[in-house]
Amino acid sequence: MRPLLVPLEALVYGPSYAYLNYKIRSPTPLDHDTVWRDLTFDLPPLADWLRNSWPIGPVRPLLLRAKIKQDHVLGIADHYDVSNDFYELFLDRRYMFYTCADFHHPDETIEEAQQHKADHILGLIDPKPGQRILELGCGWGAMLKRICEHTGDKDNLHGLTLSKEQVDYNNQHNGFHVEFDNFITRTYQPESYDTIYSIGAWEHVRPDEIAPLCNKLYDAIKPGGKLVKHFFCRSTDDLFATAVCSQLYFPGSIGSSYRAHVEAFEGAGFRITHRSIHDYRPTLRAWFDRLVESRERALELVDVRTYNRQLTFFPASWRYFHEGRGMLVRWVMEKQG
Ligand SMILES: C[S@@+](CC[C@H](N)C(=O)[O-])C[C@H]1O[C@@H](n2cnc3c(N)ncnc32)[C@H](O)[C@@H]1O
Repeated sequence: MRPLLVPLEALVYGPSYAYLNYKIRSPTPLDHDTVWRDLTFDLPPLADWLRNSWPIGPVRPLLLRAKIKQDHVLGIADHYDVSNDFYELFLDRRYMFYTCADFHHPDETIEEAQQHKADHILGLIDPKPGQRILELGCGWGAMLKRICEHTGDKDNLHGLTLSKEQVDYNNQHNGFHVEFDNFITRTYQPESYDTIYSIGAWEHVRPDEIAPLCNKLYDAIKPGGKLVKHFFCRSTDDLFATAVCSQLYFPGSIGSSYRAHVEAFEGAGFRITHRSIHDYRPTLRAWFDRLVESRERALELVDVRTYNRQLTFFPASWRYFHEGRGMLVRWVMEKQG
């Protein structure tokens, strides 16, 4: 049955999708060396052309629209609500960031690299005790923890997530004001926050949701306040064939282009005062290695399909950044006083 699905899925969703799904559906845990090699090596020109050309350009938005009828809650649960203990196996031990770290040297640990990232973003947010601060998509509370270490002001820190497991984790370990709510559809009180920030959450916002959300957030920030955003986006306006593959990992999410982000935020009235570009690849490799080191424990915590999906996610994403399709960006934006 499994091999029979390959030509069918290749025809509808393209060869990359079919190949990845074939790997994910393996009834046994995948061999890590083979997976990394097969998903990152430079493809011969014909294979490369095929994977980039199919599904053909005009069909891609239609396929994606058909695939994303489900709401955000189901898509987030599918990826995140598998087991907090599973994520603990490969994320950094101090904060549990599930977003790109800053490796200053190739031989640094994921803990050191996430500390650099946390400190860089802390500098961008520049939080002060008494300021009301909101994180959109707060994960396991990593950045809330770093801000709290700095200001000591837990009461004014708020986070939103659509993962029930993350809410439970927060209640058990951190005690921040974390709500289970959709930051896209939420109603925000006008001028209620000094700073709103997000780290790796805008990737889940669909293109037609970006501009309305920017307008809402602009109103929710106090005059002179700011919005800090760490995100990855498509480097061009092309809707790559890889957008279809991303449905295997984040069902219901579609990334937007860099230009679409600029237009939506500037259109809402924000002024971009900081931009920096970061390299996601070392983080993806570090998570992959950690997961492989913990393979036996991982397979006690999640089923084989979930393990295989996570194992393919890292090299497939690595290739996306390596080929320059995606870029990882940090912005600070100010609301004019
Ligand atoms: C890649 S994780 C990043 C988590 C955290 N910011 C970090 O740096 O580790 C994405 C987070 O965004 C949240 N998220 C995605 N879409 C959301 C939505 N529409 N409303 C609320 N949270 C959302 C997920 O639940 C998850 O917590």
